[in-house]
Amino acid sequence: MAYIQMKSIVASEGHPGLVLSLTLRMEGGLPMKVTSRDFDELREMHYLHAAITEAMRLYPPVAMDSHCCQNDDVLPDGTFVGKGWQVTYSAYAMARLEELWGADCEEFRPERWLDEDGVFRPESPFKYPVFHGGPRMCLGKEMAYIQMKSIAACVFERFSFRFVGGEGRPGLVFSVTLRMEGGLPMRVKKRRDSVC
Ligand code: HEM
Repeated sequence: MAYIQMKSIVASEGHPGLVLSLTLRMEGGLPMKVTSRDFDELREMHYLHAAITEAMRLYPPVAMDSHCCQNDDVLPDGTFVGKGWQVTYSAYAMARLEELWGADCEEFRPERWLDEDGVFRPESPFKYPVFHGGPRMCLGKEMAYIQMKSIAACVFERFSFRFVGGEGRPGLVFSVTLRMEGGLPMRVKKRRDSVC
């Protein structure tokens, strides 16, 4: 079992802006400090941004989202929704619609988010509703990306991970948030070229 502890520290010389300090704790091992990146470095990591976005497209943390209609209303496509009706959309199912994402919709392909210069190209939140869309969209989206990119950049640079959960894909548990049945067992190895 391994987990990451994260805290924000104030900028130091050469690291403008807020800097995140990460500690990797592995079962039976001593905690290891893995120093994070500053905002500018993280902003330039387009492929990582695309890979995280693509992972959440296929496995959205909020796989299904329900809202109750307060008053009679009409959706943009003309569908009537009555007062008190429950409206649910599934970001998980939407990711698997060919008419939205093309014939390779079930494939993990970060490149679909990059333009020809390798720059991240966002999609409409109504096509990619992982953070919801409209006026009640997630307020923590940018913070969430900073945390995810920071952890991934620091950890993958120093360690390699191999899935040791057996054959096939891990099972999924659909609850308020999507999670993996029994976790995701990994063998963690320090990379030979690691600096720490
Ligand atoms: C990958 C991480 C995250 C995902 C996928 C996510 C997803 C979502 C979704 C789908 C909603 C809409 C819920 C609804 O009303 O039906 C939401 C709302 C919200 N999220 Fe996040 N979220 C994430 C991280 C965060 C973080 C880190 C924060 C705070 C720092 C945050 C703060 C909020 C708040 C305050 C709302 C309510 C917005 C409103 O109703 O006006 N979220 N988020």
